[in-house]
Amino acid sequence: MLDQLARFNQKRWDELAQSNVPYSRPMLDLDADSARDFVDPEGILGDVRNKKVLCLAGGGGQQTAAFGLLGAEVAVLDLTLTQLDRDRQAAQHYGLQIQTCQGDMRDLSRFAADHFDIVHHAHSINFIPEPRVVFAQVARVVKNGGYYRFSFHSPFSHGIEDSVWDGGYRLVQPYKDGEVHYDDNRWEVEDHGGSVKRIEGPREFRHTMRTLVAGLVGNGFVILSLTEETSDETDPEPGSWEHFKSIAAPYLTICTTYLPHVLSRYVQRSPS
Ligand SMILES: C[S@@+](CC[C@H](N)C(=O)[O-])C[C@H]1O[C@@H](n2cnc3c(N)ncnc32)[C@H](O)[C@@H]1O
Repeated sequence: MLDQLARFNQKRWDELAQSNVPYSRPMLDLDADSARDFVDPEGILGDVRNKKVLCLAGGGGQQTAAFGLLGAEVAVLDLTLTQLDRDRQAAQHYGLQIQTCQGDMRDLSRFAADHFDIVHHAHSINFIPEPRVVFAQVARVVKNGGYYRFSFHSPFSHGIEDSVWDGGYRLVQPYKDGEVHYDDNRWEVEDHGGSVKRIEGPREFRHTMRTLVAGLVGNGFVILSLTEETSDETDPEPGSWEHFKSIAAPYLTICTTYLPHVLSRYVQRSPS
């Protein structure tokens, strides 16, 4: 049963996906090397052949295709049917079998405990208010020694109006857990024909670094790496996305392994 937030964001994502937002474009030209670079740029996950992988809130036909090409047994759970359609489209393109499930990342009860070798969580945790709920769910379904990798919006820059440069980008919202409000919450999306539409985005939430790290550690995850996405361009135009990225590193990724018995010596598990 989806709650009000899930139903709202599902509608928003459905419209974004149908309008061809970049996160909804299946990757149809992958090979083994590019697939590996895409899902495991840190080089941590090892040989994924025959490994059970959950692409969590990762519909759109990107991560599922990459893991499938690398020989993994892939399941994807996503809120949005249009996103799952893109996964089916990519799977058909490569001749892969994948399991697609529609649902909320806050409820993984449909999966058996200790089932997945890898939970690969694309950028989506910012669409729910409380990340620790998801961490507890992942802790149940991932195997001991398995991996949980997730990307998220940097809490330091989440909410900055990234296209407004007046000699700086204005950091005005308080640094705390909670909903992020934009003056204009519409996303600019270029459709298949190249025309640009503005579509109301989903509701988004900031999670402070303390909430994320304490939530991971409290649920038995040992942090293996933290990476930051910045710009490679040398002189990006002020007010452009690349320029913003060169200043604010908006996206971060944490890779962990699930070792609750190691961490239980040091910390108390948080309630699920
Ligand atoms: C930015 S896209 C990320 C996925 C994409 N494969 C990519 O590579 O960018 C965010 C995804 O999260 C999904 N999503 C949002 N809220 C969700 C929730 N509560 N439970 C499950 N999926 C959710 C959306 O439907 C969307 O597919």
